Amino acid sequence: MLELFLPYLRRPNLCEESTCKFWDDEHISKGMLEAHLDPHQEGASRKHSFIEESVAWISNICPPQCYPKLVDLGCGPGLYVERLFKKGYKVTGIDFSQRSIAYAEEEARKKDYNIEYLYKNYLDINYKNEFNLAIMIYCDFGALCDKSRNTLLRKVHDALSDGGVFIFDVFTPHNYKDKGESFKWYLNEGSGFWRPDSHLCLEAHYIYENNTRADQYVIIDNSEKVDVVRVWDHYYTRETILKELLEAGFKGAEIYGDASGTPYFIGSKTMCIAAHK
Ligand SMILES: C[S@@+](CC[C@H](N)C(=O)[O-])C[C@H]1O[C@@H](n2cnc3c(N)ncnc32)[C@H](O)[C@@H]1O
Repeated sequence: MLELFLPYLRRPNLCEESTCKFWDDEHISKGMLEAHLDPHQEGASRKHSFIEESVAWISNICPPQCYPKLVDLGCGPGLYVERLFKKGYKVTGIDFSQRSIAYAEEEARKKDYNIEYLYKNYLDINYKNEFNLAIMIYCDFGALCDKSRNTLLRKVHDALSDGGVFIFDVFTPHNYKDKGESFKWYLNEGSGFWRPDSHLCLEAHYIYENNTRADQYVIIDNSEKVDVVRVWDHYYTRETILKELLEAGFKGAEIYGDASGTPYFIGSKTMCIAAHK
């Protein structure tokens, strides 16, 4: 019996992929959309009060008069996109959660907002000098593996016009200071976060060299197949993020403490970067 479970109990290889969808899963995406839309939750988006501050800050440092065309990578249900549209930007939102994009499109239609939403993997974009401003918020960048982060930075660089800015946030080592490796399991009887029917979840948190962590969820239900969701996070110091940006062609960057423009301080759990093409 143990043989059957061993592959799921071992530490995954660095950047090993999930065996099933996460953001775009038919069931999980329902819970994620609820989490995005709950103004007080920090599960899928930050609290809506923070988003308001964030949008005010972005439109202050990169005003729509100077940066008219904006793309939001991983826009979810459009919480930033709508607010930025109302500030005066011409906005494109890209996300690979079909449920989030459908919700965002429907909201824009009802409110008569002229917003472009694309159901697409942002690693597949191929724009040239199209946008003045790109954003990617809630530490999604670090969830990509080394090669994909480099691909994304190069594609964003290509997508920006000269003088364009890429604003994104990442976790720092301080976010994980007191968090070691840990393992737990739980049984969900009836519908739960991972599946619509009863399921067992084996949860593990692994630490790797080079500022990388993995949260792994092995999901066992009554079907034949065991699924494994792996959420990676690569976290950064000021030096390591600047190095990756320069390698991808960016000229330089300002570093803030978070995506509402809080000044950066040593000990900050996040960093928000405004990188210049
Ligand atoms: C943590 S949520 C943040 C959503 C939004 N930026 C916010 O703060 O409200 C990450 C979002 O990125 C999307 N996403 C993750 N990887 C993606 C990819 N490769 N291509 C497009 N969207 C992606 C997910 O579907 C999800 O909506």
